[in-house]
Amino acid sequence: MTKRWKQFEAVVTSRHCKRAYLDQPVPRALLTDVLTAAGQAPSTRNGQPWRVSVVTGDARAALVGRLCAEFDRGTAPAPDYPNRPRTPDSLTEQRARLALAGVLRVLGLAQQGAAGRRAHLRLNLTFYGAPVAMVFHLPADAVPGAFLEMGFFLQNVMLGLVAYGLGSCPQYSVAGYPQVLREELGLGVDRLIVCTLAVGYPDPAADVNGFVPARAALADYARWHDQAPPSFTAASCGAGEPAAGSRPAPVNASSQSRERTT
Ligand SMILES: Cc1cc2nc3c(=O)[nH]c(=O)nc-3n(C[C@H](O)[C@H](O)[C@H](O)COP(=O)(O)O)c2cc1C
Repeated sequence: MTKRWKQFEAVVTSRHCKRAYLDQPVPRALLTDVLTAAGQAPSTRNGQPWRVSVVTGDARAALVGRLCAEFDRGTAPAPDYPNRPRTPDSLTEQRARLALAGVLRVLGLAQQGAAGRRAHLRLNLTFYGAPVAMVFHLPADAVPGAFLEMGFFLQNVMLGLVAYGLGSCPQYSVAGYPQVLREELGLGVDRLIVCTLAVGYPDPAADVNGFVPARAALADYARWHDQAPPSFTAASCGAGEPAAGSRPAPVNASSQSRERTT
């Protein structure tokens, strides 16, 4: 195991959401470094579709004020895009329930039912008290691939922040108020709000910052393929493509699994 791998692994595995922050400003030079490095993310045909608005100081206070005012007057969230399928699978739903329950528990909001969930949403709209709010946006007609590319960029940002001792929390909940975000940031309807990111120095004394939802085991999400399908012969791959007629049959539910998990 090389030193470089260890450093990489340490950064990746210590990135977990931080939901309580110190009242300590973040030097702009650090944010500049992180966003510059994050811009090395890959993108189809190097299109680099990501855009980010970095909101601090009075601009942040004004934004929080407007978001909370909308929330308090009962405006229902209306995000620019859905973030879950219409019929989510039960495993995903179970994980989501556990993660939310864990956050509510460590925030001391679990006993309050719907009121606790509302309080949690309102906390999101204050960026959990973080001094920096980042707002990530794409063209309004963004194709699914652009969201993938935004994800690469966003992950680079979050990992870069960790490397500087900073914490963050990505937030779809705040994207539920896209019109407020657009108005406050001078963005037109040609911009689609993807999510926000609360950024700051994590409060080490806050229990919530120690909460890490369980992860699936590697075998649950990785499959290893090292055996050619029976219909595939060495001769058929000479030109890099299987010869016509020798393609493996499409896998369907009744096909026998050749997957190995180790
Ligand atoms: C696109 C996206 C949107 C999210 N939105 C919220 C949010 O609105 N509020 C929040 O507290 N956490 C939010 N999260 C954080 C997830 O709940 C968190 O990443 C997940 O539970 C795993 O926990 P960890 O990141 O601490 O390891 C979001 C994460 C992603 C990737």
